[in-house]
Amino acid sequence: MAQFKKSTMVSAGIVSAALLFGAGTAFAAEAGDAAEGEFVFQDNCEICHSAEEGGAHKIGPNLYGVVGRHSGAAEGYTYSAAMMGAGIEWTAENLATFLAGPAAMVPGTKMGFPGFSNPDDEANLIAYLDTLK
Ligand code: HEC
Repeated sequence: MAQFKKSTMVSAGIVSAALLFGAGTAFAAEAGDAAEGEFVFQDNCEICHSAEEGGAHKIGPNLYGVVGRHSGAAEGYTYSAAMMGAGIEWTAENLATFLAGPAAMVPGTKMGFPGFSNPDDEANLIAYLDTLK
């Protein structure tokens, strides 16, 4: 009987630890987790974009310092006419709209991206982009 009580207490401890951990994870996702976002970048963006300061333009422009930058402003990169005329400031909100469907926000853009199925990926990615400064 005493044995049974002890194991009940132990598993209650595990459950509350799991709850605490779960709450912590949810909070991190809300604010965006930049460390996770770096992986999201590697998986989804790096094929076309570099992220390091002074990095080469690839198929798309270097994205170092993109948060807060104006659209079409990376020096030495040849944008589409659509992006040159877009007049967007890359705030976190505008980035989220753009990444959900680049051509919906900037008709005629040469960036093709299907958007994220997981909103956490998007929030984490934008938190990561915000560290590139
Ligand atoms: C298949 C290649 C490709 C992929 C993948 C891609 N991009 Fe792009 N991206 C481009 C191209 C090309 C442009 C230039 C668009 C234009 O000039 O119309 C661009 C432009 C941009 C711009 C505008 C930059 C500026 O200076 O105005 C942002 C922001 C951006 N991409 C972010 C991302 C992010 C974040 C990802 C990953 C989620 C991503 N892109 C994935 C090709 C890509």
